[in-house]
Amino acid sequence: MIGCALIGYGYWGPNIARVLHESPRTKLRWCCDLEQGKLGKFARRYPGANTTTRVADVLDDAETELVCVVTPISTHFDLAARALERGKHVFVEKPLAASTDEAQKLVKLAAKHKRILMVGHVFEYSPPVRKIKEILDRNELGKIHYISCTRVNLGIHQKDVSVIWDLAPHDVSILLYLLGEEPRRVSAMGRACIQKRIPDVAFMNLEFPSGVIAHVEISWLSPSKIRNTIVVGSKKMLIYDDTQISEKVKIFDHGVNYHDPETFGEFHLSYRTGDIVSPKVDTYEPLSAEIEHLLDCVEKGTKPVSDGLSGLRAVRVLESADRSLANGGKPVAY
Ligand SMILES: NC(=O)c1ccc[n+]([C@@H]2O[C@H](COP(=O)([O-])OP(=O)(O)OC[C@H]3O[C@@H](n4cnc5c(N)ncnc54)[C@H](O)[C@@H]3O)[C@@H](O)[C@H]2O)c1
Repeated sequence: MIGCALIGYGYWGPNIARVLHESPRTKLRWCCDLEQGKLGKFARRYPGANTTTRVADVLDDAETELVCVVTPISTHFDLAARALERGKHVFVEKPLAASTDEAQKLVKLAAKHKRILMVGHVFEYSPPVRKIKEILDRNELGKIHYISCTRVNLGIHQKDVSVIWDLAPHDVSILLYLLGEEPRRVSAMGRACIQKRIPDVAFMNLEFPSGVIAHVEISWLSPSKIRNTIVVGSKKMLIYDDTQISEKVKIFDHGVNYHDPETFGEFHLSYRTGDIVSPKVDTYEPLSAEIEHLLDCVEKGTKPVSDGLSGLRAVRVLESADRSLANGGKPVAY
């Protein structure tokens, strides 16, 4: 049994606590939160575990091997670094840290102490994203032209971070996972509509060395919830709609045939609209798959899919987007 501790029992922490508790491979030993009220809620649900407001209690416990950090982004680095320095394996919710400098330090600390460092890029474990990765890897869509992601809804406005750091980690991690490459340039425009200096809507653009371009639209200020990813390739196109209960992924045998004209009169485009196929997608819970993968890595000492470097790459994109935002939306080198 892997002795586990959870730090942070706010909005997301209860989900991590549930999957840790449900796994037959773990013993949930601790919950640490600064607020007694949150600890009271945890204790009523998990009476067998300890609660504390002091992180030191968790780190001093020799039987705690794995620490899960599910606190606000500004605290990720300090908590994760302290846990790694005490020889714990560490899971950190997305994004890994608040800057590339912090993320780099965490990657180095994990290597130095030979401990697992994993970031909660939960979509890398979700069945539809895994299915799309298979489709792209077997070249079913042909050469990818572009990807467009939309993640918008009304709320929840964060007090301490912009919508880029709150929502874009999901799409950025999906893009880097699907494409297997890092962007060359990033640009972003955004606007703080409700709270001063905290953008609640942003439009990001990424250019990849392969030529693929990607657009990410994120907002806490939108009339309805949209979770769409469109992938357009030279042979076929695909839509992933995460709000659907079933048929989340649809492949369209649509495209345009272009023939190089030999004479001016010969210019010719033909549009092809063929079958629309919805491939079978597994239905397991992404969060459970993510945590089971984490436990596999702790048990076997293997590298997580979303390891510290994956977390670092995503943070570097977010930081690049912030630099572009501060620079009037000009593209910046990644
Ligand atoms: N994977 C997802 O889909 C998903 C969804 C929501 C949030 N998250 C991530 O989860 C993390 C937490 O987000 P949230 O919405 O739950 O935040 P939250 O503010 O609701 O909860 C954070 C909790 O951490 C506690 N806390 C703060 N500093 C602490 C410290 N130093 N020691 C112990 N406890 C401390 C707070 O008291 C609070 O209870 C963030 O990284 C966020 O990006 C991920």
